[in-house]
Amino acid sequence: MESDLSSEAPLARAFDAEAFRALGHRAVDQLADYLAKVQSGEDMPVRSWEDPEDAVTLWEASMDEDAASGGEDLIAQVLRVAFHGHHPRNLGHQVGPVLPAAAVVDLVASLLDTGSGVYEVGNPATPMERAVLRRLAHRIGLPSTADGVLTSGGSLGNLTALLAMRQCQSDAWAEGQPAEGRLAVLVSEEAHYCVDRAAKIMGWGERGVVAVPADKDFRLRAAGLEPALAEAKAAGLVVLGVVANAGATATGTIDPLHEIADFCERHGLWLHVDAAHSGAFVFSSSARPMLSGLERADSMVIDFHKMLLSPSLTTAVLFRRGKDSYQAFAQKADYLWRVDQTEDWWDGAKRTLECTRPMLGLRAYALFRYGGERLLEASIDRVLEATRDFAALIETADDFELLVAPESNILCYRYVPIEWKSSEWDALNERIRAILVREGRFYVVRVEKRGRTYLRSAVMNPFVHRAVFEDLLDEIRRIAQMIERE
Ligand SMILES: Cc1ncc(COP(=O)(O)O)c(C=O)c1O
Repeated sequence: MESDLSSEAPLARAFDAEAFRALGHRAVDQLADYLAKVQSGEDMPVRSWEDPEDAVTLWEASMDEDAASGGEDLIAQVLRVAFHGHHPRNLGHQVGPVLPAAAVVDLVASLLDTGSGVYEVGNPATPMERAVLRRLAHRIGLPSTADGVLTSGGSLGNLTALLAMRQCQSDAWAEGQPAEGRLAVLVSEEAHYCVDRAAKIMGWGERGVVAVPADKDFRLRAAGLEPALAEAKAAGLVVLGVVANAGATATGTIDPLHEIADFCERHGLWLHVDAAHSGAFVFSSSARPMLSGLERADSMVIDFHKMLLSPSLTTAVLFRRGKDSYQAFAQKADYLWRVDQTEDWWDGAKRTLECTRPMLGLRAYALFRYGGERLLEASIDRVLEATRDFAALIETADDFELLVAPESNILCYRYVPIEWKSSEWDALNERIRAILVREGRFYVVRVEKRGRTYLRSAVMNPFVHRAVFEDLLDEIRRIAQMIERE
């Protein structure tokens, strides 16, 4: 067939190495300027509000534009409207500011884009992944049998671990649901919703997730687990394990892991720890003791994109007995590998839901090469210290209250002015947050706990300081006065 020259020219232009160089240099310059500005936080909001439907209309209108046709540069356009995660007044979700060097490595990963399903295309991401997981297992204090995988996110990581938990105790891949007894897991009522989702994806239904009440400090306790297990058994459920938190999404609370591990040992149950948030503390010598007992878990997840400065999504799923990791997806895929059930760590897809994966190993490895454990420790220690400052400020303010003393870098608090009736405080905090988010100077989230509305901040930015928290409290007071005047 004759080649179509008219289509070759734009293709050649699009893949031209020099054009890539020019675009790349310009993009890095734009991002460096952006970073300098956003980190100073001076005269820019954390986010600018756009109605979602209006935003789609705008993006549809500019979809076919390029710089040559006079359209706005795409990167500039994105930077103008995006949420600014590196902003010091971003006190919202548990998404940390990305290490700039890690973003550069992500560019490399995106261009090479070698899937790590099988080793033939998996080098270097797969061996890097193994090196990172070994280091992590060592820091946790797991035995040398430990092994695992990286997945795209904690939700997928939790599902992967729970699939392995199930397969280690019943051959669901071959047999489906057991004929007798419905499978279930005991879960802290404070668990992230993805644990509930994982159980439902496995077909366990509403009864398959037994939510166990937490104590007054939001911790899962053996005293709560014992009756929950007895009741579940009496109801005909076959309980396979327990899911504990380190730390809980809403409050950052870390469950007493030794106590829960003892309970699991007593009853022959699998212990999975969702350490997506605080598992990172293994890199800080001062914070590590909070995780005591994590090394006794059968499986655990730790997100690199929460506390470890990685771009999303990068999650470690670790198993005490590495061979258990091969149980999660005990399945054949003839076009990828020929022998089922062999423990070939180098063929990544054997142990993850993802067939093609981003170069997660490179992404995680880069954090050690460009930052190192000392940087990770410094960042963790700094945000924990900043959170203690924030909590102290709230405790000394008459018009604010804390839900619970923070154990990590997540804080729940609310404005409780005596000029307002206490019955109005929930609605007031709700409105304050809505206005804060619309105005965009600060970003905080909301949470409902024990029937009350709280503001919630994950302090993720190691450069945040006390003045930012003082400014936030003043801003909240100002908005409340504005509401009162209305
Ligand atoms: C405790 C916990 N587990 C799991 C997740 C889900 O993680 P991901 O967003 O990486 O899927 C979160 C997210 O916030 C979380 O806080």
